[in-house]
Amino acid sequence: MSKQLVSFNEFLVANKTSASLVQLLEQITLASIAISDHLKVGAINDILGSAGSDNIQGEVQKKLDIIANDEFVKYCSTVPNVAALVSEEVEEIYWLKDDPQSEDLIVYFDPLDGSSNLDVNLSVGSIFSISKIGDDFDKSNELSILHVGNKQICAGYTVYGPSTSLVVTTGNGVDGFTYDEKSKQFILSHKQMTVPNETGEYAINTSYYQFWDTPIKRYVDECVAGVNGPRGKKYNMRWTASMVADVHRILVRGGVFMYPKDANNQKAGGKLRLMYEANPMSYLIEQAGGAASTGYERIMDVTPTSPHQRVAVLLGSKAEIEVLNQYHKEAE
Ligand code: AHG
Ligand code: MN
Ligand code: MN
Repeated sequence: MSKQLVSFNEFLVANKTSASLVQLLEQITLASIAISDHLKVGAINDILGSAGSDNIQGEVQKKLDIIANDEFVKYCSTVPNVAALVSEEVEEIYWLKDDPQSEDLIVYFDPLDGSSNLDVNLSVGSIFSISKIGDDFDKSNELSILHVGNKQICAGYTVYGPSTSLVVTTGNGVDGFTYDEKSKQFILSHKQMTVPNETGEYAINTSYYQFWDTPIKRYVDECVAGVNGPRGKKYNMRWTASMVADVHRILVRGGVFMYPKDANNQKAGGKLRLMYEANPMSYLIEQAGGAASTGYERIMDVTPTSPHQRVAVLLGSKAEIEVLNQYHKEAE
C-alpha cells in the first residue's frame, strides 16, 4: 500500500488554521520556492557575492540577500490581511495598510540567513515570525507593533540544503515539510518534531572564545573536557554558520546552539536579531520541548525596543539550557 502523502495546505486545513494565516503561509512557501530556484543557479547567473552595499546592521549585503528580500516582499504583499513587514534588509517598517486593524498580521523575516555560506554552496535559510497587530497598537507610535515573542501566532523557517524543507509552528507543536519538485508542493515529512531533554552536542563559534563571559567559557570548557570533566560525558561540536541549519539539526537530533553576548558585540547587544531570528527560533524550540534563553531570561519574554534589536541566544535541549542559566546566575 502506498503511503498517504499530506501536503502543507492539507495539513493547515486539517489543523483548522485561520484562512488569513493559510493565505499568508502559502505566499511564504511561494517566496521560498522562488528563493530556492535563485540559489540553485546562483553561480551561473552571477548573483553570488557582494551587492556592494551595507544593510541596516552595517553588514555587507550579498546580491542574494536583496533578491530574497524582494521575493518575500512581493509574495507577502499580496495577502489582504498583512498590514506590515519587518525585514532584516530594510531599516524602516514596511507598511502595507494605512489603517491596520487588530486582527491584521505583521510578518518579521530574515529573507536569507547564513548568507556567508552562499559562495561556498553550504546550507542557508529563510526565517519568519508572524504576530497579530493586536489591540495595543498605537498609530502615533509605530514601534507599538513590535510584540514580545510570546505573542507570536506562527513561526518557521525554510532550510535550503540537500532538500528544501519548511518547518513551522502555529502553537500546536512543530512539523516539517519537504519540497517535492515533481508535485511542486511541500509534503509533511517530519511530524511533531521534538528536542530531546538531554544532549551531547553543542554549536558555537569558538573563534570568539577570548571575548566570552565566564559562564559561556565555563560551559564550553566543560564540554571540551568530556568524560574526564565535571559533566562526565563526551560532547561533539558542530557549527554551520547558518542559524537555520544549526536549529534544524537540533530539531532533528537535539543539541545546543549558542550565540552569546560577548565583549566584541556587547555594545550592539549581541549578534542575532530578536524579531526575526531569536524569537521565531525560540518559539519553534519551545514548541518542540526545548528551551531558549539569553542566559538571564526567556527570549520570548524580552521586551522589543526596535525592529532590528540584537539579543544573546542560547537554545536547544532543556537540561543544557538550565545548566547555562545556572552558570549565568552563579557568575552574577
Ligand atoms: P545573516 O546571514 O542573516 O546575517 O545571519 C547569520 C547569522 C547566523 O545565521 C549565524 O549563526 C551567525 O550569523 C554566524 O555568525 P559568525 O560568522 O559570527 O559565526
Ligand atoms: Mn540571519
Ligand atoms: Mn539575513
